[in-house]
Amino acid sequence: MGATDEDDIHRIARQIESLGLIPTVTPGRIEAVEPIAGFRAVVEVLPELEQPAVPPTPYNGPGRADRPDTRAPGLHRDGAVRPRKLGHVVIGSTDQAATQRFFTDGLGFKISDVVPSIASFMRCSTDHHNVLVQQAPLNFLHHTSWQVDDIDEIGRGAMAMLEKDPARHVWGLGRHYVGSNFFWYLKDPAGNFSEYYSDIDCIVDDALWEPGVFEGPKSLYSWGPPPPPSFVMPEDLAAHMTGAHDSR
Ligand SMILES: [Fe+2]
Repeated sequence: MGATDEDDIHRIARQIESLGLIPTVTPGRIEAVEPIAGFRAVVEVLPELEQPAVPPTPYNGPGRADRPDTRAPGLHRDGAVRPRKLGHVVIGSTDQAATQRFFTDGLGFKISDVVPSIASFMRCSTDHHNVLVQQAPLNFLHHTSWQVDDIDEIGRGAMAMLEKDPARHVWGLGRHYVGSNFFWYLKDPAGNFSEYYSDIDCIVDDALWEPGVFEGPKSLYSWGPPPPPSFVMPEDLAAHMTGAHDSR
């Protein structure tokens, strides 16, 4: 992760220490090991990340021809779908509260929305969430999520994957309620879940965003097919827990 200046690094160092952890601090850089799953977090003083703006896709609407006299641009796209960035990761932790505290109280992530006693959506940028930690029977990477331009790119990307291997399908197409993003989840070649997303909420002014509390189906989605049981509890978790999983 990037930080603005040396003051940020020192503040994060104090916060990490107050969690009883020992960070490694060098000029412009701090490194800390998350206490439950044991992954490494690195924060460095870096220039602010600026993502080049992609022109909006014109979609016609009632009384509004934003795309007069032409067919939809999504019809003409034929190259491979290229994600614009890694938007977020979702982590399963055997101690959800402790891993979440590492991100919020330690690294300074902000909470965008809460699903009580399950998880909080956390951000370190203007995206609604960059990390979510959920309680799990073992520590694992639940999914990575990759930003594409619009809903057409989600459909094109997912269909290209499914043409090669229909078994990659996990859950989609739908729209999340928390974060608002369109989604389609697929299995990546290692068997981890991987999400194509577009149109996620952006929190540009913290003062204007009211964190919400969501329970039940809304915590998972607004519309789409019902989530498969394997989304909540991946099928190979039991095998991983007993160490019987074959490495693919
Ligand atoms: Fe996601």
